[in-house]
Amino acid sequence: MESRPRYYLDHAATSWPKPPGSLEACIDFQTNNGASSGRGIYHSAEASSRLVHSARQAVARLINAPSERDIAFCNNGTHALNAAILGLLHSPTLRGCHVVTTATEHNSVLRPLELAHKTNGTTWTAVQCDETGFVDPNRVVEAMTPHTRLIVLNHASNVTGSIQDVRTLAEIAKSKNAILLVDAAQSLGYLPINVLDCGIQVLAAPGHKGAGGMLGTGILYVHEEVQHLIEPIWIGGTGSQSDSISGPFDWLSAVESGNSNLPGIASLKAGIEWLETRPLTAQTDRWAQQLIEAILEEPSLKLIGPLENRLPVISLIHEHSSCHEMAMILDSACQVEARSGFHCAALIHPFLGTQSAGGTLRLSLGHTTVEADVEATIEGIHLLGSLHR
Ligand SMILES: Cc1ncc(COP(=O)(O)O)c(C=O)c1O
Repeated sequence: MESRPRYYLDHAATSWPKPPGSLEACIDFQTNNGASSGRGIYHSAEASSRLVHSARQAVARLINAPSERDIAFCNNGTHALNAAILGLLHSPTLRGCHVVTTATEHNSVLRPLELAHKTNGTTWTAVQCDETGFVDPNRVVEAMTPHTRLIVLNHASNVTGSIQDVRTLAEIAKSKNAILLVDAAQSLGYLPINVLDCGIQVLAAPGHKGAGGMLGTGILYVHEEVQHLIEPIWIGGTGSQSDSISGPFDWLSAVESGNSNLPGIASLKAGIEWLETRPLTAQTDRWAQQLIEAILEEPSLKLIGPLENRLPVISLIHEHSSCHEMAMILDSACQVEARSGFHCAALIHPFLGTQSAGGTLRLSLGHTTVEADVEATIEGIHLLGSLHR
């Protein structure tokens, strides 16, 4: 790729550059080992299995899961969400039930729910959010029916950055005998997550965003009590019971069926170990505040999202320009790389008033954002503010 100045503001899609140690771990695995895990009994294959075991332990530490056996590796957030949503909704206990979710969800929640609706009679309701992306937990309670068995909640919006009240929703789920599935795509690695303390029974997330792994990584946590409810939605080589074509398949074998992305898992483990060396409250929050202030100074720009209780995922629109035009100008004039459009969140835009703008321009910061990225973006925001003046 040609070399040109590059200010990467799309960490909400995937983090770049990766934290120190992540790329090195990936290369080290592929250079010095390269064998698959959970299958062979030769030296390198066993080293691969140990790597997966310690990577599971690292994820378990990150979210305070009781055991590394509660963690499955997936290929991305979408894969983890599909394994959880379709796996649960195909179980005899949940089949045909009602699901409550929110308008802030990503299509990797909404589309599997719609698929389950078409294929097995699941019904689902998405409760509305306010104009900054927050969901009132009371609306979730109101939407529940006697048949509701699952609540799916986006921990933090990938459009507005709003952080939802996951603890209250976990209490609601518990009191109504429903399972809470949290989509931690944006929050994993950026917010403290304690699944045990919060009462989160299922959590899905990409490994390639805040946790610092390579693209092609994802994680799924399932509490021991509900693991038996995860039906396999695909199956193949599991490295166990290899002389049989029918199960039972334990949840981990089903979700991880096929060879794992070991270079990615090595990078994810290194990313988490790097996170463990630094405080969670980072400079990124202060920089996000500076970007928000720059947006608020420009009368033609409108911040879409809250002023506080948010992640550094910042959306805006322009009174006369489309979000795609803004993204092109930022890229060509300032080398700022930011995402424009609906951000794969089909239902949130009517609530934010961003449909006619074609969605939003999204500026997202991450652990490896540097001051130069922020300076270039502030310059870009003022340039956008001067358009059509
Ligand atoms: C809130 C949310 N959920 C799920 C996903 C899907 O993750 P992946 O892109 O790893 O499939 C994303 C990705 O941006 C997201 O922002």
